[in-house]
Amino acid sequence: MCGIVAYVGRKIAQPLLIEGLKRLEYRGYDSAGIAVIDQTGGLHLRRAVGRISVLESSIGDGQPLPESHIGMAHTRWATHGAPTEANAHPHIDGAGRIALVHNGIIENYSVLKKLLTEKGYTFKSQTDTEVLAVLIGDLYHELQQRNHLPAGASLLQRAVQSALHEVEGTYGIAVICKEEPDTLVVARKGSPLIIGVGKDEYVVASDASAIVEHTTQVIYLNDNEMAVLKPGYFRTCTTDDIEVSPVVSQLENKLDEYELGDYEHYMLKEIFEQPAAIRRCLSGRAEQREGRIVLGGIADHARELAKAHRYILTGQGTAWHAALVGDYLMEDLAKVVTEATYASEFRYRNPIVEEGTVIVAISQSGETADTLAALREGKEKGATGLGVINVVGSTIARETDGGIYLHAGPEIGVASTKAFTCQCAVLTMLALYIGRRRFMGQAQTEELIEGLCAIPDQIEKVLQQSELVKTIAAKFCERENWLFLGRGYHYPIALEGALKLKEISYIHAEGMPAAEMKHGPIALINEGMPVVFVATQGMQYDKVISNIEEVRARGGHIIAVATEGDTQIRRYSDHVVYIPEAHESLQPMLSVVPLQLLAYHAAVIRGCNVDKPRNLAKSVTVE
Ligand code: G6P
Repeated sequence: MCGIVAYVGRKIAQPLLIEGLKRLEYRGYDSAGIAVIDQTGGLHLRRAVGRISVLESSIGDGQPLPESHIGMAHTRWATHGAPTEANAHPHIDGAGRIALVHNGIIENYSVLKKLLTEKGYTFKSQTDTEVLAVLIGDLYHELQQRNHLPAGASLLQRAVQSALHEVEGTYGIAVICKEEPDTLVVARKGSPLIIGVGKDEYVVASDASAIVEHTTQVIYLNDNEMAVLKPGYFRTCTTDDIEVSPVVSQLENKLDEYELGDYEHYMLKEIFEQPAAIRRCLSGRAEQREGRIVLGGIADHARELAKAHRYILTGQGTAWHAALVGDYLMEDLAKVVTEATYASEFRYRNPIVEEGTVIVAISQSGETADTLAALREGKEKGATGLGVINVVGSTIARETDGGIYLHAGPEIGVASTKAFTCQCAVLTMLALYIGRRRFMGQAQTEELIEGLCAIPDQIEKVLQQSELVKTIAAKFCERENWLFLGRGYHYPIALEGALKLKEISYIHAEGMPAAEMKHGPIALINEGMPVVFVATQGMQYDKVISNIEEVRARGGHIIAVATEGDTQIRRYSDHVVYIPEAHESLQPMLSVVPLQLLAYHAAVIRGCNVDKPRNLAKSVTVE
C-alpha cells in the first residue's frame, strides 16, 4: 500500500529513484511521482496518473529533471482522493520549499486542514498527505522566524518533529527542503520504513526490494522514530528527539530473488518456486532422521505453548485462509482448541482472551495493519503473540514474543501463492511441535514429518499439469460466475481458489464448504456454470461425490481436483486434475496448486494484468 523510496548521497538520484519505484510498484500503482532538489537548490516535481512507466516516459518526453543527489519518489494506492495527478505524491508545502512522500493515513487531517485554511493556506489536492506537508512548512516558517536553533541543527528535522506531535494516524514519511539541500528526514509510525546504509549514501524505502541493489546493511526504524540523513552523516532519534542507537542489520534476500528471470509474470514464477520455497521453509526444522520438529524461534516458549488452552490464528486475505487450514491442523493434530479469525473483526469485537491463550499473527508482509492491530489487542489482553511471517524484520515480526519465518523468499505478485503454501507448511510444523508435546505419539509424528518432507516433490508433479489446467481455464474463462467447493481441510482451499480467481481475473467466484451449497447457493447453478470441487480421497470423499451429483443434476460443469489413481471421479466430472496421494492434513499444500494455476491462466487469457490487478495492493497498511 503505497511505496516510498528516497535517496541522499553522491549518485544521481533520478534513475535510482525510478528503479526503486519499479520494485515497489506492487504496493500500489494508481499514480506515481518524484521530487528532487538540484545543485542550485531548486525543487523539481513530476507526477503522473497510472503506472511508473507513465511517470518515466513523461520525464523522458520533454520534462527532464536536472541532475540532483537528493530526492524522493512514491507509488500510490489511493486512500484519500481519487488517483489524479493533483492527489499523487510528493506533496509540497504552501511556500513550495518542502516536499513530502507518505505511506499511511493522517486521521485528523480534516481538523488540521481547517486550522491551516484559517491561517490562509490553500490546498491543491484532496489528500491527507498535503495537509501534513503544509503543516511542516508552516512550522518550518515559524521556527525560522524564531531563529534560535543551535548551529548545525536541522530546522527541517525540528519542523517535522513538531508536525508529527500534532498528527494522529499512521505514517512512513520522507521529507526534503530546498533550504537544506543535503538533508533527508524520514520518520515512521505504523507504516514500514527501512534505511539502507551505503558508503556516504542512504536509500530509504518501504521495503528491502528497493534497497538491496545498493546495500545490504539496513536499519529498521521503529514506530515513533525518525532519522536525519546527510551524505556521510546520520542520526536516529525518537520523534521526541531522544537519541536512539541504530541497530544495523543484514538483508536476508539477494537481488536476483527479486528478479523476474525467464518467467512472464511474478505470479507464475512464485507458483513454480513453491517446491524450493517449502524445502527452504522445512530445512533444519522438519528433521526426518530424528523424527522431530525443531523451531528455534519459539523454543523459549515451548512449555507455555504446549500448555496453552486456546490458539487464535489471525490474518487477512490469503493469510486468513492459511489460518483456517491451521485451525483444522491444530485441532486435528495438536488437539488444542483453536479459532481462525479475521484480524479486522477480532480487534473490534472486544474479544475474550483467557489465561493460556496464544495469538498467532499470519502475514506474508508482516505489515498488514489489521493483523498488527489484532496481535496488539491479543497481547494487550495477556495472550502470548507468535508470528508466521515472511518478511524478516517486519513490524509484526518485531512485535511478537516468538515466531516462525516462512523463508519463502520475496513474494512480488500481488496474489499470494508461495507464501500461502509456506504458511500451511509452518502451521503443520507448529501443530506437530505442539501435538508431540501433548498427545501425539512418535510413530505418528514421524509419519507426518515424512509426508511433509515429500510435499515439495509432489508439488513438482502437480506443476507439470500446468498446460492441462490452461486448457480448462481457456474453456471456462468467459463464464462470469464460478463456485469453488471443498470439505474439511479443503474448505479453506475452496475459499483460496475463489479469491485467486477474483483477484486477478475479475471473475465473480464464491468459495464455500461443499455442504453449504445446498443451503442457498445451489440456486445460482445454471447450465454450464463452472463448479470446482476439491474431491480428494479422505474422510468426506463420498459426501463430496454426492455434492458433485447435485451440481451435475442442475447443469453445472464439474472441474475436480482429485487424488491420483481415483478413476471413478472421471464418471462425475467434466475435467480432472490429479494431485499425488498424501495424508489428509497435508493435502491443502497440493490441492491449492491447480487452483492457483487455474486463476493464473484464466487471467492471462482474459488479458488481465496478473501481477498488478486493478484496485489491489499487496501490502495493506491501513485498517
Ligand atoms: C492484501 C493482499 C492479499 C493478502 C492480504 C494479506 O489484501 O492483496 O493478497 O493476502 O493483503 O497480506 P499479508 O501480507 O498480511 O499476508
